[in-house]
Amino acid sequence: MLRYVTTNAGKVREALSYLDDDDVSQLDFDYTEVQASDLGPIAAHGAREAYRYADEPVLVDDAGLFIDGFEGFPGPYSSYVEDTLGVEAVHRLAAAELDEPRRGSFRCVLAYCDGEPFEASPDPIDRDDRTVAAARGAEQGAEETEALPVKLFTGSVNGRIVPPRGEGGFGYDPIFEHDGATFAELSAAEKNGISHRGRALAKFATWFAERTE
Ligand code: IMP
Repeated sequence: MLRYVTTNAGKVREALSYLDDDDVSQLDFDYTEVQASDLGPIAAHGAREAYRYADEPVLVDDAGLFIDGFEGFPGPYSSYVEDTLGVEAVHRLAAAELDEPRRGSFRCVLAYCDGEPFEASPDPIDRDDRTVAAARGAEQGAEETEALPVKLFTGSVNGRIVPPRGEGGFGYDPIFEHDGATFAELSAAEKNGISHRGRALAKFATWFAERTE
């Protein structure tokens, strides 16, 4: 059984369009979000931690909204910013500080780990985990965690930051417009067809089907 690691049921609903729900279930596990300027190291570290916790194949989903005029902010801090400021305040900030068009992108990184060897995604991830392991010093298990291979799958979609519209989706969907509609105005299937998560999931599903053949 593949465990889809997230505390967000909205992500799982989207993932199930790509993965067979007999083979996948949510693992509601809040992995440590290491500090990094990109999502890859965060997802990779989360996948190693979740695998050690679950002892089953895991897929971690880390995503965020990157606003071009704010050098990517809130990016890896999207969750914290949603919880503290809220998405409407993010739109107000963008409207106050940035000229039109207020461009940004949603990005998603999926990190897979099943404890078995395979051609993992390359070095920066390991380097980051080494930094984390070193910072944790001699904490038990740090070296073991670092050694686990992790495969990353990425997806992104460009859009604009707009006043909130729409009732669907979750998180920043109401303030993210792509091709004339906010993600909150799309059906789940329409969002999946173009979204950062849909793109990453399509890559993962192809690779995973071959791996489990
Ligand atoms: P995390 O990947 O669960 O840490 O999510 C980071 C932040 O991005 C949270 O505030 C989520 O609500 C938000 N987020 C993640 N994926 C999406 C999405 O597909 N649409 C809108 N917001 C998202």
